[in-house]
Amino acid sequence: MDDRLVTEAEEGEEPSRSDAGAATPGPGRKVFIKTFGCQMNVYDSERMSEALAGDGYREAASIEDADLVILNTCHIREKAAEKVYSDLGRVRVIKEERKAGGRDTMVAVVGCVAQAEGAEIVARAPVVDLVVGPQSYHRLPELLTRSRAEKRALVDTAFPEEEKFDHLPARMRTHSFTAFLTVQEGCDKFCTFCVVPYTRGMEYSRRIADVELEAQKLVDSGVREITLLGQNVNAYHGEGPDGRAWSLGKLIRHLARIDGLERIRYTTSHPRDMDEDLIAAHGEEPKLMPYLHLPFQAGADRILAAMNRKHTAADYVDLVARIRKAQPDLALSTDIIVGFPGERDEEFEQTLALIETIGFAQAYSFKYSVRPGTPAGKLDDQVPEEVKAERLARLQTLLEAQQAAFSAACVGRTLPVLFDKPGRHPGQLVGRSPYLQSVHAEAPGDALGRILPVEISSFGPNSLAGVIRGH
Ligand code: 5AD
Ligand code: SF4
Repeated sequence: MDDRLVTEAEEGEEPSRSDAGAATPGPGRKVFIKTFGCQMNVYDSERMSEALAGDGYREAASIEDADLVILNTCHIREKAAEKVYSDLGRVRVIKEERKAGGRDTMVAVVGCVAQAEGAEIVARAPVVDLVVGPQSYHRLPELLTRSRAEKRALVDTAFPEEEKFDHLPARMRTHSFTAFLTVQEGCDKFCTFCVVPYTRGMEYSRRIADVELEAQKLVDSGVREITLLGQNVNAYHGEGPDGRAWSLGKLIRHLARIDGLERIRYTTSHPRDMDEDLIAAHGEEPKLMPYLHLPFQAGADRILAAMNRKHTAADYVDLVARIRKAQPDLALSTDIIVGFPGERDEEFEQTLALIETIGFAQAYSFKYSVRPGTPAGKLDDQVPEEVKAERLARLQTLLEAQQAAFSAACVGRTLPVLFDKPGRHPGQLVGRSPYLQSVHAEAPGDALGRILPVEISSFGPNSLAGVIRGH
């Protein structure tokens, strides 16, 4: 049964549009997809683009040139969500200009803002023709046709019973050497600050056979490095060929057997789901890169409990020690929130102390942002904006120093670098170190897609530079 909800936009709020030439998709149409937010959105945009290619859409170079504009949105923090509306303002102007020139433009808002706000989006931005949640984008071609035929805005934000991945076309050829592959979606952890359990739904893992097929397809088209994605990727428990649930560690070891696949990464992990096998894989599986993104969010146990993180600061320190025992050569990354409701100065100091104890190669840090519908958003002891700003500045100074120390320790070492794109200067290529740092080097064009030894000679705030050795 299809429990999908397709609601009509409020009466009178549908965008007026002419349907001249808009009845069928057909060849020659162009789509422009703008992606906000996390790597999973990048993956989703690629899959959408592939699904639309089957319907005759080619990529547009700009919004002005697009018959279909898709904004793939992020709802994680307030700023991210607001960006969508300012972009829609711009899109409205372009749509009107195109209309004056006799060309129609369809506008779709997909992703997590679509999921969270649904028909509200059409009410606030009548330029929008389609609102589609992250679990329904495989139905985009069909929804576009319906919206055109029925001349009204459509909203599809239900969590369908059918599996999106079973309804997407097989992967097309890619021209890159690195790729994302979503293996798990959703989250049941319900951290009190986070919208993900509401926008992406409950945890779901793709079958091993499906992941393997997609990985093989990517490798066949030249991909050398795959990053396995999931909101809570290490909670992965996909059905294996033996009918049992396989863990992420087992999946990684299985994929590592694919010839031509040189590197495997995964993100994002929850400390509670780092099981022994996954930790052991870091020491045993050479294709698993020595980099781990492991958010801890806050250093004070009272705040961690209020966040419903299900771990203490000591648990995190102990876990990192166990992972480093398995793989001493590990770059750690994390996510941190400052100014969670009720966070006192001394509790913030505990966050700084935890960073000092662990030592991060890099990190993402945020001011707490109230998200509608989340438990923490309802707490009344919200931290003033200026306190959050001051804490964030202190935190980032410390994190930048740690990142610089990690980069400095790479100078003089020779690191294997996977070159995946041209650099800014002619004759220069950019690649990734095992620790996910960008590395610039003078390199011949045929180095693209290859892993070459680079002696690191210097570093900047966000990258390393070096010289290829023995090429
Ligand atoms: N406010 C600030 N940061 C948040 N994050 C998630 N929700 C919020 C929020 N309400 C951060 C967390 C998470 C990362 C993806 O975004 O650190 O790990
Ligand atoms: Fe959000 Fe991550 Fe917590 Fe899940 S584990 S609720 S995705 S912060």
